[in-house]
Amino acid sequence: MLSARSLFQEIVDSDETFQLFCSIAASGETQGGWENGRIATLVPESMRELAPRITRHGADEDKHGRLFNALLKKRRLDPVPVPPETDYTMLLEQRGIGLAHEKLRRDERLTEHDIVVYLSHSRVTEQRAADQMEMLVKHFGDHPELGKAIRMISDDEANHLAYCHEELLRLAAAGHGRTIQRVLRESALAEIRVYRDVSLAVMAHMGHLLRWPKAKSAALAAGIHALYAYERLGGWRRMVGLRMPERRGALDGPATPAPAF
Ligand SMILES: [Fe+2]
Ligand SMILES: [Fe+2]
Repeated sequence: MLSARSLFQEIVDSDETFQLFCSIAASGETQGGWENGRIATLVPESMRELAPRITRHGADEDKHGRLFNALLKKRRLDPVPVPPETDYTMLLEQRGIGLAHEKLRRDERLTEHDIVVYLSHSRVTEQRAADQMEMLVKHFGDHPELGKAIRMISDDEANHLAYCHEELLRLAAAGHGRTIQRVLRESALAEIRVYRDVSLAVMAHMGHLLRWPKAKSAALAAGIHALYAYERLGGWRRMVGLRMPERRGALDGPATPAPAF
């Protein structure tokens, strides 16, 4: 039977697929950490009060990168190169979503508009991250090898999402509402396509490593296309709504350490 649980179980059970999964995850998290770190450094003077929260966001993502690398190390595996077609962050950047790395590498202050774009983009990608981690916790929250790390990451992703809602609502009230709505919509529609393409690419690699029969790979690909159709038809709207979160000030204070790793 094909279920998210059985699929992920197969990926975890084989060293080769686990190695690829953790390498892709670690690389995405580390890129997110770097981006947030740069944005915190370049935040405009008028939005200075946001900088500590952006720094904290970056510190959390760096920590997630270390957690995935620690999971590899525990199994005495090294990270493997990430195939470009599975690089979610890079593909989003190529579609012009979020802030370009080239811009972040420069030592020029960002504008208020840049920060509005960054937060809107994050609201969409953090929704994906939070949903995925919630799914992993549901099935593997008690797993002896992975449970602790994924529960910790899931809790952080929920914080990141809450923070995006809270800050965007504040910026909308300050007059950025139209830009926010436009960027949220553009980001969500681009993200669901990138997510589909990356899912297909990851599953193709996993299927190859696990020698899945053609029918199984075809069924999985059909599932990924069906999810995209659902998201394209209206599922994407869950990524663009804004409501005040129960957790306020979710990123105030330093990142929670991960001593066990
Ligand atoms: Fe993360
Ligand atoms: Fe996050």
